[in-house]
Amino acid sequence: MTETVDFRGVRLYPAFLDRAAQEAMVAALRRIAEAAPMFHPETRFGKPMSVKMTSAGRYGWVSDRRGYRYEPRHPTGVDWPPIPPEALAVWQAVSGVERAPECCLVNYYAETARMGLHQDIDEADFTMPVVSISLGDDALFRVGGQERSDSTASAWLHSGDVCVLAGAARKAFHGIDRLKPGTSTLLPQGGRLNVTLRVVT
Ligand code: SIN
Ligand code: MN
Repeated sequence: MTETVDFRGVRLYPAFLDRAAQEAMVAALRRIAEAAPMFHPETRFGKPMSVKMTSAGRYGWVSDRRGYRYEPRHPTGVDWPPIPPEALAVWQAVSGVERAPECCLVNYYAETARMGLHQDIDEADFTMPVVSISLGDDALFRVGGQERSDSTASAWLHSGDVCVLAGAARKAFHGIDRLKPGTSTLLPQGGRLNVTLRVVT
């Protein structure tokens, strides 16, 4: 088993995926985006998010003026494609739970995209972990506690790293401050893909 690092209660698996596995994951994500195209969601305040996203699985995560929620279909009405076996294999290796993920959210960060500090709390069962996979350029990951006012710490996530938010860290505030453009050759267009696997119900 790969060595893990505890970062503010988040379990990090540095370089969990080797280059070949990262390439296979990217190919699987491209197939998802062909079936369910990436879109720029709006926050509930009507501001466009800087990441583009799509999903696979029984539910996809969407955000618009009606709020943040899981939906059984893409905004265009098409079904979300199935979660690819490459992503399921990562979940099985690191999640420590029997249930299968119901949502595979795919976020694309262009050079200047970021994600503000937030909690993942749209799911029903917080005993189920969040598993997140980084692909492409390095990203500065910030983690705090369960209150927005708690102190935070940052670490760079690299292509192939996997993070697990479970236990006390399941509802930790987290976000991506910025990318370090040009740090990876994985994505020909540059930027970063993040895959987040969750049980929703
Ligand atoms: C997220 O919290 O939804 C994404 C985190 C990341 O991009 O690593
Ligand atoms: Mn999150």
